[in-house]
Amino acid sequence: MELSQIEKDFLKEIEKVESLEELQNLKVKYLGRKGALTQILRSLKELPLEERKKIGKEANVLKEKMEKLILEKEKTLKEIEERKKLEREKVDLTCPGKKISLGHLHPLSLVLREIKEIFQKMGFEVVEGPEIETCFYNFDALNVPEDHPARDLWSTLWLEKNYLLRTHTSPVQVRYLEKHQPPFRIIAPGRVFRHERTDAHHEIQFYQVEGLMVGKDVSLANFKAVILHFFKEFFKEKVEIRLRPSYFPFTEPSVEVDIRLSAKRKAQSAKVNTKGKAQSAKEEGWLEVMGAGMVHPKVFEAARLNPLRWQGFAFGVGVDRLAMIKYKIPDIRLFYQGDLRFIRQF
Ligand code: PHE
Repeated sequence: MELSQIEKDFLKEIEKVESLEELQNLKVKYLGRKGALTQILRSLKELPLEERKKIGKEANVLKEKMEKLILEKEKTLKEIEERKKLEREKVDLTCPGKKISLGHLHPLSLVLREIKEIFQKMGFEVVEGPEIETCFYNFDALNVPEDHPARDLWSTLWLEKNYLLRTHTSPVQVRYLEKHQPPFRIIAPGRVFRHERTDAHHEIQFYQVEGLMVGKDVSLANFKAVILHFFKEFFKEKVEIRLRPSYFPFTEPSVEVDIRLSAKRKAQSAKVNTKGKAQSAKEEGWLEVMGAGMVHPKVFEAARLNPLRWQGFAFGVGVDRLAMIKYKIPDIRLFYQGDLRFIRQF
């Protein structure tokens, strides 16, 4: 083939090259071992000297020219590629940042934290017990023997064998009494479970805070002072309380604690009242929030403590209840539905 033809073809082809790969192929085609130009250079020896010199020179000039063009092309292609890459990886530093969404505390967690803090300031230690309990801690040690009708007070979710989901936080009393020597004061917050039909005031799970204060002469009067202070701190206003006689197998005497908030809250409180009964003027605004009493001697005995030496009070308060009153929440089920429209209000 003629050198001029080779040059023409080469120039046409290199014009169309669009990638480094194509360029490499082109290089092989013309300058490779079997390339068009290489073949001419190889066949030179068959030519007469004069011609060999002339064509050889021309061929070498062309070879250099091609090599130069290839190098140039390579440079441009690399530049284009680099530019494309930068384009792809472009970062706009002026873009507004993506907001990292942080979670926040559930209203029940908020209330639990607050309750703990108030009691801790009064010297109460915070302890915990298991949610899966044995019959012994949930019932027997709390003076509720197997055939006792009082077991029906707590609709129990039974598990296999001797296990159950604790129906109240009172078993933590026994667990603590077994391992500690009075005097002491503790609270035990936690989740409890009841086998119940749910409605605006009942859930199969809810939270309680158990309280227990034991010493040589701890009395119901101390109890009254402690919870009065607690309610005042919790609701951030003066709260009236009322103790009504009641019955729990593990306290004697037993009381039920009602609270009454200031007038501005009353209208709302009436709605939250569990029983939903029409109330007389005198009864208006009272809310039942807590069971309590003096620790029954049988409970001390179950924990191998001498009831003649020690005495104290215990109480159990419904956390959901307090949160409902505090935040004017009409339905307990809202706490457990995970509806963000609800949760985000706190
Ligand atoms: N455990 C009782 C309940 O869940 C409440 C309570 C606790 C009563 C401590 C007295 C003393 O109903």
